[in-house]
Amino acid sequence: MPPPAAYAFFSPQFNKSAHTTPDGTVSNYQGGQFLDGRRPNLMEQAKDPFLNPVEMNNADAADVVTKVSNSNYADDFKTMFGANVFSDVPTAYNKIAMAIAAFEASTEVNRFSSKFDAVRAGAESFTPSEQRGFDLFKSNKAKCANCHTVPDTGPVLFTSHRF
Ligand code: HEC
Repeated sequence: MPPPAAYAFFSPQFNKSAHTTPDGTVSNYQGGQFLDGRRPNLMEQAKDPFLNPVEMNNADAADVVTKVSNSNYADDFKTMFGANVFSDVPTAYNKIAMAIAAFEASTEVNRFSSKFDAVRAGAESFTPSEQRGFDLFKSNKAKCANCHTVPDTGPVLFTSHRF
């Protein structure tokens, strides 16, 4: 399964930092985007699918910029980034990626709206069965939280963002 765009914003910039999980798994690489972390952040990630032959398969960046400049939101794009934004392909391509990354970082995409989040916020409660599952998840028996990190407070992403 490909990694989802939702919550991808929370993945830190790709980095190498020494780390060993409590069970002894060494995992020194963290963050980035795509399954292998090959793009350092959302903005760089957003540039690839337009050109990937098995995704949107556009010929090149100029092809993408031309399509956006002919779209019905081209004027919004100019309002946001300047009237001449489409005159330079690398600049326009960066702005397109920036707009996508900004959307992916928004609360519209990162809703934290699951029952788990509601329980976390104190608005709902787990059933006894759900509570047993969560306790097991965090326990030394199942050890899931060794990698699917569950901080004591605040929103939970269930990941250490490590490889
Ligand atoms: C040693 C680290 C580690 C432990 C311990 C671990 N996981 Fe994972 N888990 C991962 C990694 C890494 C992935 C992502 C694999 C991938 O995307 O190819 C993953 C993926 C998953 C996924 C799929 C998530 C998705 O979005 O596709 C689920 C569900 C999951 N783990 C549940 C569990 C449960 C339940 C436990 C405990 C019984 C557990 N994991 C223990 C590292 C771990």
